[in-house]
Amino acid sequence: KNEKFVIAIDGPAGAGKSTIAKEISEKLSIEYIDTGAMYRALTLKAINNNIDPNNEKAIINLMNYTEIDFKNNHIFLDGKNVDKLIRENIVNNNVSYVAKIKEVREGMVKLQQKLAETKSVIMDGRDIGTVVFPKADYKFFLTASVEERAKRRYLELVNKGEKNITYDRIKNEIESRDQIDSTREVSPLRKSPDAYSIDTTSKTISQCVEEIISIIEGR
Ligand code: CDP
Ligand code: CDP
Repeated sequence: KNEKFVIAIDGPAGAGKSTIAKEISEKLSIEYIDTGAMYRALTLKAINNNIDPNNEKAIINLMNYTEIDFKNNHIFLDGKNVDKLIRENIVNNNVSYVAKIKEVREGMVKLQQKLAETKSVIMDGRDIGTVVFPKADYKFFLTASVEERAKRRYLELVNKGEKNITYDRIKNEIESRDQIDSTREVSPLRKSPDAYSIDTTSKTISQCVEEIISIIEGR
């Protein structure tokens, strides 16, 4: 493919979006943009500055002097690499409050659209096919049962060596984040009517990647 194109991937936490999008970006030699990382970075900054994620005014003000950037798949917050810090549990449990603020979403969406101005991208998030790129060339909506998604996240943490976690807690946290993300007023998590749905519950990562590539290549 020579022309510039956009692939949008949306879905709830643990559906497989980032793992699958990353693999596709490598196969197609296009850039991968993780929009969740952007909301996470602003949330991290709020926490570091003792700002309550529910204090909308303070968060909006904070955003206005915050710089979020990607370089070779790494995320930089005010020039500092925060790949690891944005995955901390305290960020997981606060990000959805920051992400439901209208002005925050407007700022992030502008930045996301700018990142795709000059190049082909695969972008994952919650509102990519509905709001960020309603005219994306390809749209996918990934789902999986909440039990499977919680199991995946739990295994990730166990493999990282975390001790103080239980499957039930992870499941509760995922359910509560899904609830906030799906019911918020501004660009809630939902499938764009023209998106292609994939239930990844009992599929391997490579099966999902193959299914998406075959649709993009029109096989
Ligand atoms: O990887 P995981 O599914 O756990 O989450 P993420 O994609 O990193 O997104 C973290 C949070 O950011 C989500 O729970 C949403 O609250 C928010 N988000 C959003 O509102 N819109 C996006 N396009 C991406 C993420
Ligand atoms: O980005 P999102 O929150 O949608 O999910 P992810 O972080 O890409 O995937 C969550 C976990 O599920 C990762 O550890 C993946 O390796 C795993 N996964 C899986 O086991 N099987 C799939 N079909 C998709 C993802």
